[in-house]
Amino acid sequence: MRTQVGIVGGGPAGLLLSHLLHLEGIESVVLERRSREGLETTVRAGVLEHGTARLLREVGVGERMLREGSVHHGIELRFDGRGHRIDFADLTDGLSITIYGQQEVVKDLVRARLEAGGKVLFDTEAASVYDLDTESPRIHFFQDGEEEEISCDYVAGCDGSLGVCRTGIPENARTEFTRTYPFGWFGILVEGPPSTEELIYTLHDRGFALVSTRSPEVQRLYFQCNPQDDVEEWPDERIWAELSTRLATHDGWELTGGRIFQKDIVQMRSFICEPMQHGRLFLAGDAAHIVPPTGAKGMNLAVADIRVLAHALTEFYRSGDRGSLDAYSETCLRRVWRAQRFSWWMTSMLHRFDRSDPFQLKVQQAELDYVTTSRAAATTIAENYVGAALNISHPL
Ligand code: DHB
Repeated sequence: MRTQVGIVGGGPAGLLLSHLLHLEGIESVVLERRSREGLETTVRAGVLEHGTARLLREVGVGERMLREGSVHHGIELRFDGRGHRIDFADLTDGLSITIYGQQEVVKDLVRARLEAGGKVLFDTEAASVYDLDTESPRIHFFQDGEEEEISCDYVAGCDGSLGVCRTGIPENARTEFTRTYPFGWFGILVEGPPSTEELIYTLHDRGFALVSTRSPEVQRLYFQCNPQDDVEEWPDERIWAELSTRLATHDGWELTGGRIFQKDIVQMRSFICEPMQHGRLFLAGDAAHIVPPTGAKGMNLAVADIRVLAHALTEFYRSGDRGSLDAYSETCLRRVWRAQRFSWWMTSMLHRFDRSDPFQLKVQQAELDYVTTSRAAATTIAENYVGAALNISHPL
């Protein structure tokens, strides 16, 4: 098998790349380990930056997002029993975020690719990437128990943090930066009405909690937990009690309940691989970097990488100019580190690292007090959250 761009991984990054290349008349094949159903039901985050939502609209895959997603113009930061709104629209000249689940983005992209006759091979496990320093790199993969090979002009490694592509960059040619956090996020999906119109991020003596949503009927809530916890240790009543305690306000705010139909624990890690390219291999999304979830940057960063990569590949196929391809890693890493900084900062401000350290809680509360009362400080949250401060090469 041969194609122009071999794409390992059919998450948002791989599928979007395939779609954008198709719009430019460039052929690709996407290899995805999971089944179509498995892929489309993997629940992840659900916050799209302003520029992410705009891109999806501009490239023709935003129709359902426009109908079913919901646009939010701010978030609430809650601490010391009081809520404070960060008004994105006011602080960023009208920008917003869109709440629309990552798996919904994936469904829309899969449909667009298949309707256009695109090649997305599900249940296909990439085993390794080869000959990345030659004109014709190759991907070995397994399909129906058979080992097969695809050769291409370029390989896009969109296969997540556990994928094989990153190992295509020799160990002595890459540097990995890692930070782990001493907590995880316990996430639940709830069938029931929302408790609030906008997301609430809260810091309490017992730890962080987040009230998010997926739709008018499905709510997504998280709270800081021990990363070694097992979901079995958290029966529904214990979860509601913990969330209610952390979210309580002096004026008696109440969390709306519902039927919990999924529980999971998200690990918290910062990770970056430098560079994000080697020979004819380009890494994008989680294959190259992981952010802790606070601030919801993960999928947005993947989309931003792909925007840069699709542009660089298009330039190469149109004119033979490799300048943008050569600069890919450098272009992406600047944004990646800025998003990493923001995610690390939001995580640091909003979590209890050591419950026996009351000084730290007081300093965190003072920081939250500052960011919710100084317009300059509130703007730094707003412009990073909606993504405007991160768009260096593609300003909004
Ligand atoms: C969600 C996830 C996040 O990491 C976040 O900061 C906000 C919302 C979510 O899954 O809805």
